[in-house]
Amino acid sequence: MEFEHIPHAAPVPSATRERALADPGFGKVFTDHMIEIDYDADRGGWHRARLKAREPIALDPAAAVLHYAQEIFEGMKAYRHPDGSLALFRPEQNARRFNASADRMAMPHVPEDVFIEGIRRLLAVDAEWMPAIEGGSLYLRPFMFASEAFLGVRPAKQYKFVLIASPVGGYFKASAKALKIWVSRNYVRAAPGGTGAAKTGGNYAASLVPQMEGADHECDQVIFLDAVERKWIEELGGMNVFFVYDDGTVITPPLTGTILPGITRDSLIALMREEGLDVREEPYSIDRWRADATDGKLVETLACGTAAVVTPIGTVVDPDGEFQVGSGGTGQLTAKLRERLVGIQNGTIEDRHGWVTKL
Ligand code: PLP
Ligand code: COI
Repeated sequence: MEFEHIPHAAPVPSATRERALADPGFGKVFTDHMIEIDYDADRGGWHRARLKAREPIALDPAAAVLHYAQEIFEGMKAYRHPDGSLALFRPEQNARRFNASADRMAMPHVPEDVFIEGIRRLLAVDAEWMPAIEGGSLYLRPFMFASEAFLGVRPAKQYKFVLIASPVGGYFKASAKALKIWVSRNYVRAAPGGTGAAKTGGNYAASLVPQMEGADHECDQVIFLDAVERKWIEELGGMNVFFVYDDGTVITPPLTGTILPGITRDSLIALMREEGLDVREEPYSIDRWRADATDGKLVETLACGTAAVVTPIGTVVDPDGEFQVGSGGTGQLTAKLRERLVGIQNGTIEDRHGWVTKL
């Protein structure tokens, strides 16, 4: 697909950019450019791919996404390697998951090569937005939404694919600190047959009230239980979870359709198996978590995702009471996995899995 490059009339001055890059936080600062591609089922599908100045998108007030939330997104990062080059981590997995989400939301596929080429084009013009700070990266947010002006409920015929980029530091303010987690008993995130395995905006909208409930109890994040029995751990609002035992067993909930198949999750399973750990994908109950943490067999619990990387869970708060995991701080395996993963992503540890795509 041809990409038209529409030159930016007034990019951010470098002094302003450097100031923003000194402490970008997460998702607040944006680069100069964006990718935009239109889709029309009646005009042969995807057309008019362009790289242009980042700017507001004009939408008809009847655009289907504003009413029925036909929308999907991805979250991935570009990293600066020691040789100065830029690299992506398993981007083809994000492209594949994007299309799996598209299937669930009755949306068209974006060809994998177009998805990756869009990223290449954007990074080619916005590379100087890579923060030079420790733990810094360029967070990439590809998304697609129904733009057709139509109020009937059916799959739209028109869509936009857009890619923006945001220089980021850590997702959490205190990146090394263990999380305090709220167990959501009143709300679920996803039900069998629902949209839990798709990266679609509505899942995150539904997580906001439980997240506020958790914040009222001084918690950083929420963990969700299954919708049927209300006892099996699923995942956090934006992270998968692993339970680490003192005998080398590690358990993570299985991918049965209600949790997001995390790329970090998949990568950590591979790294742990190489360490000789016995990683099991099997249902894990909140009661077992509490009992095993209390008697000390369960030594660590970690959350993982692109934004959060690998983050320890130290305290669990439940309407029934509170318990601590391990020391309540960062466990040994959590620290080691974080170092390994970040090292591979940043190019300071050899990539033996073919996970890194140099740009
Ligand atoms: N679970 C949810 C609900 C998420 O939003 C994310 C973030 O993308 C993850 C898990 C972790 O997925 P990944 O490791 O691919 O970023
Ligand atoms: C990510 O890890 O990329 C996420 O999407 C989590 C959150 C920022 C939505």
